Amino acid sequence: MAGSTDLRRAFGQFGTGVAIIALRDSQNRAVGLTVNSFASVSLEPPLLSWCLANDSQLFADVSQASRFSVNVLAADQLALSNRMAGPASHILQDDEFLEGENGTPLVQGALAQFDCHIHDRVALGDHIMLIGGIDAVRHCSQGRAPLMYFRGNYAGIEVGS
Ligand SMILES: Cc1cc2nc3c(=O)[nH]c(=O)nc-3n(C[C@H](O)[C@H](O)[C@H](O)COP(=O)(O)O)c2cc1C
Repeated sequence: MAGSTDLRRAFGQFGTGVAIIALRDSQNRAVGLTVNSFASVSLEPPLLSWCLANDSQLFADVSQASRFSVNVLAADQLALSNRMAGPASHILQDDEFLEGENGTPLVQGALAQFDCHIHDRVALGDHIMLIGGIDAVRHCSQGRAPLMYFRGNYAGIEVGS
């Protein structure tokens, strides 16, 4: 089997979008975490997934949360992506999010927002997979460019209107 550096580099050949997972922490603060492990899972019922490292400082909060949102980032949200990748602080400021119907923080300006309850949690090696049941969705119809990630770096993509 390849070493973890090789594996990381091989995974990195798969270009992805970037999303922020937002949730309420144990003190009811809105917090966010940058991920690129987001994937669509099912249309009926509507399900999605993402994976969290077991050593994340948000692991306990995510384990106890009943809800989270997935917020697909636009290219102009790179600074927020870097901030939510820690390690300093994962706290979202008041003007950076709105609340969904169930109180889940939803990141302002995201290309798409998925407001989810936890459908399942699956422990898998050094990560846990979170399966979200999607209760509400919003998306942007304008031609704004997405934030992309490829080979360990942010990347650009041209988007028509
Ligand atoms: C583009 C990008 C994608 C990331 N994707 C994931 C991910 O899918 N799962 C994860 O646990 N951490 C991911 N991370 C790392 C976290 O955002 C964060 O940096 C890391 O968890 C820092 O540790 P902390 O959670 O203890 O602060 C990603 C970071 C970046 C910059």
